Amino acid sequence: MNPELENYINQARAGGLANTAITHALKEAGWSESDISSAYEASSQVAIHANNVHKAFGKVRALSGITLRIPYGKVFALLGPNGAGKTTLVRILTTLLKPDWGEIKVAGLQLPRYEKQVRSLIGLTGQYVAVDETLTGRENLRLVGRLYHLPKTIVEMRANELLHDFGLQEAADRPVKTYSGGMRRRLDLAASLINRPQILFLDEPTNGLDPQSRNVLWRVIENLAREGVTILLTTQYMEEADHLADYIFVIDHGRLIAEGTPRNLKKQFGSSFLEIHLAKDASMNKAIEALRQLGELQIQKNEELDVITLPVGESSSLFLEAIRALDKENIPLIDVMLRHPTLNDVFLNLTGHEATSN
Ligand SMILES: Nc1ncnc2c1ncn2[C@@H]1O[C@H](COP(=O)(O)OP(=O)(O)OP(=O)(O)O)[C@@H](O)[C@H]1O
Ligand SMILES: [Mg+2]
Repeated sequence: MNPELENYINQARAGGLANTAITHALKEAGWSESDISSAYEASSQVAIHANNVHKAFGKVRALSGITLRIPYGKVFALLGPNGAGKTTLVRILTTLLKPDWGEIKVAGLQLPRYEKQVRSLIGLTGQYVAVDETLTGRENLRLVGRLYHLPKTIVEMRANELLHDFGLQEAADRPVKTYSGGMRRRLDLAASLINRPQILFLDEPTNGLDPQSRNVLWRVIENLAREGVTILLTTQYMEEADHLADYIFVIDHGRLIAEGTPRNLKKQFGSSFLEIHLAKDASMNKAIEALRQLGELQIQKNEELDVITLPVGESSSLFLEAIRALDKENIPLIDVMLRHPTLNDVFLNLTGHEATSN
């Protein structure tokens, strides 16, 4: 691996040069084919690389040594409760804030050195909607296009496309102050796409939205991911991370406490439970006695609700065995449910507290 060559390729790409032109220039400069091809490979793998990032605001340590690598493609979620450091990390990765310590590369480009190039390659939708109330939707998109120094015709074309894709065509020429919260969020997201970013940062994109608007935004995000945009989103909603993310970074108190696919996190930090609802006239003690015959189980009871829970672990046969054992003793049941672990359980296990404040 040759960092100098890798950097050169990333910069040339950020400057809009095609791979063929870059290769040609490198060969002219005397680099070997194999050096060039391995530098290409290294430069096109990691979309975001943060190494040991620290940030404090006075006495508050917002980030205490975050290290993560995010490959291109797919959706990545930063999951964590209020104050975990999600926005701080996003602001650092999007060049809006400088870390006290640590190395950052976005699209292979070192920050803060290549700040300008990085800005042209990324899109950001911040935690709070950042559109101008007095302008129309279309005017907001034009404004952002101009900030990126895009040619006027390109901006008009992109604005039309985006207004259409985000279902804002009808409202396009109305001032944003007449928009609903969901429409504003969609416009905000549209604005962050005007430069066709390779890497998109979304800070709590669906916070405060009703379930229907949330679903609309989820679909938009899924479509972008399908088109190959690398997405890093933050959320404190477990279902959101579970639904959207291919890979999750769990952070709490400025530290990375776990990472993995939703499935692996649940497997690693959660467990499945069998929930048995007894009929009112059933004897709880007799039921527990029957279940004990099945082996060493951590049986828990809730006498008020007439519910017995037992961890199932890897055993898929336990479900049937439990029902058979209870049936044999003629213990009447109302319901038996297999409850799979949720990300909420994962979070609770990892941190000892819930992720969401509500
Ligand atoms: N500009 C600032 N000045 C002082 N403290 C700050 C500043 N920005 C963030 N903090 C503090 O840093 C910590 C991390 O904040 P951050 O906004 O990154 O959290 P978050 O995970 O995005 O939380 P939320 O889910 O509430 O958006 C918090 O304790 C916060 O109060
Ligand atoms: Mg935040």
